Amino acid sequence: MQSLTIVSLLFVFFVEVFGGFTTTKVGPQPIWNATHTDKLRQDLLLNYDKFARPTQHYNQTIVKFGMTLRHFDLNEFKSQLTVHAWIRMVWTDEKLKWNPEDYGGLSVVRLADHEIWQPDLFLYNSATSTAVGHYANTHFLVYENGEVLWVPPCQFTILCDLNLKYWPFDEQTCQMGFGSWTYSGDLIDLELYDNQSTIEQELIIESNEWKVLDTAIYKTTLYYKCCPEPYVKINANVTIARRSPSYRAVIITPAFAIIVLILATFWLPPNAGEKIILNGCIAVIISMFLLYFTQKIPAMGSHTSLIMIFYSNCFYIVCCTMIGSVVVLWISKTKHTSPVPWTIKKPLTGTLGKWLGLNVYIQQQEKKALSCFIFADLTLKTPNVLVSVC
Ligand SMILES: *[C@@H]1O[C@H](CO)[C@@H](O)[C@H](O)[C@H]1NC(C)=O
Ligand SMILES: *[C@@H]1O[C@H](CO)[C@@H](O)[C@H](O)[C@H]1NC(C)=O
Ligand SMILES: *[C@@H]1O[C@H](CO)[C@@H](O)[C@H](O)[C@H]1NC(C)=O
Ligand SMILES: *[C@@H]1O[C@H](CO)[C@@H](O)[C@H](O)[C@H]1NC(C)=O
Repeated sequence: MQSLTIVSLLFVFFVEVFGGFTTTKVGPQPIWNATHTDKLRQDLLLNYDKFARPTQHYNQTIVKFGMTLRHFDLNEFKSQLTVHAWIRMVWTDEKLKWNPEDYGGLSVVRLADHEIWQPDLFLYNSATSTAVGHYANTHFLVYENGEVLWVPPCQFTILCDLNLKYWPFDEQTCQMGFGSWTYSGDLIDLELYDNQSTIEQELIIESNEWKVLDTAIYKTTLYYKCCPEPYVKINANVTIARRSPSYRAVIITPAFAIIVLILATFWLPPNAGEKIILNGCIAVIISMFLLYFTQKIPAMGSHTSLIMIFYSNCFYIVCCTMIGSVVVLWISKTKHTSPVPWTIKKPLTGTLGKWLGLNVYIQQQEKKALSCFIFADLTLKTPNVLVSVC
């Protein structure tokens, strides 16, 4: 029994001695000293919980929100506007304050995305709801007074109610709404950066087809019936207009040409077979345009574009003209046994005919009548011949 306690005491002694020896042993030292930035980062972030809003729960965090437009692109068939922009957010993080004198005068530090708390501002009318993280993972600038500046480049896709009635001279207005997903206006309040009322466009790369007419950015505060707290939202409107010179060349000029061609078919003599050929050509041109439009303009329930209505109505007119020409040709080319009824002939050779520009035919008719009269005078004996000539 006694020997056992001695052994255990010895064991404890050895453990104490050698254990103490190992702890006092000097390990390899790093050959570099921690910089002020390293120390600051360590001091700031060691006990930082990035999921907790960095202020008391009863205090408000004010987030300043700004936007710089870089590029945009409209997909008419999906009614989606894709906006490339730089968002600017500024807020104060009370857990990230320090005294620059303690860190060799260091007054600003860069922290990586997801190292500290960031407001959950999302686009409400996003067209791609599965990919909510619009923002690129860029770093934050953190200043000594706890101010955080974050400028992430981002790409938003929004649903936009398009009106293509005046295509290709249309203007579209699309709205983006940003707000906090989980915090109400009591906890996170939004403000406009620099009091801006329009979206900055200094860095814009213009789209080939669209130009920006107008932009607006403003804040709205909503109160719902259910809850007393306000819900704040930043709305950004973009009004764009289509650049139409190329469309003018491709669509509007041919439209005038088609009008003139359709009129030209009426100026051809009534018995000219070329009318059918001309009308056929116009019909082919119009159907080609209609095909082009179905490729270019989405089928919209509410607003059909006027240019499509114009071309399809031209198609109707061409078809009617074609049928009219066929009837006229049939009348003029077939041999008829009975003369033109007096009720039709009388007004058409009178003043109405003059108004309708039928002078040539009236003169022809008169000449014919005169020659018939002479002919009848000469050959009174054979009235059968007379009938077949006149
Ligand atoms: C680290 O700091 C110590 C003491 O301040 C100094 O002696 C040493 O030269 C420094 N080492 C480097 C690599 O700066
Ligand atoms: C937080 O709220 C308290 C009480 O309303 C107020 O006294 C204090 O100044 C607020 N702190 C900040 C940083 O706004
Ligand atoms: C922003 O605009 C509001 C109202 O228009 C005004 O009261 C405020 O002083 C402006 N702030 C700055 C920083 O210009
Ligand atoms: C922004 O767009 C929406 C929807 O198109 C419109 O109701 C609103 O009046 C616009 N606001 C401004 C300031 O243009």
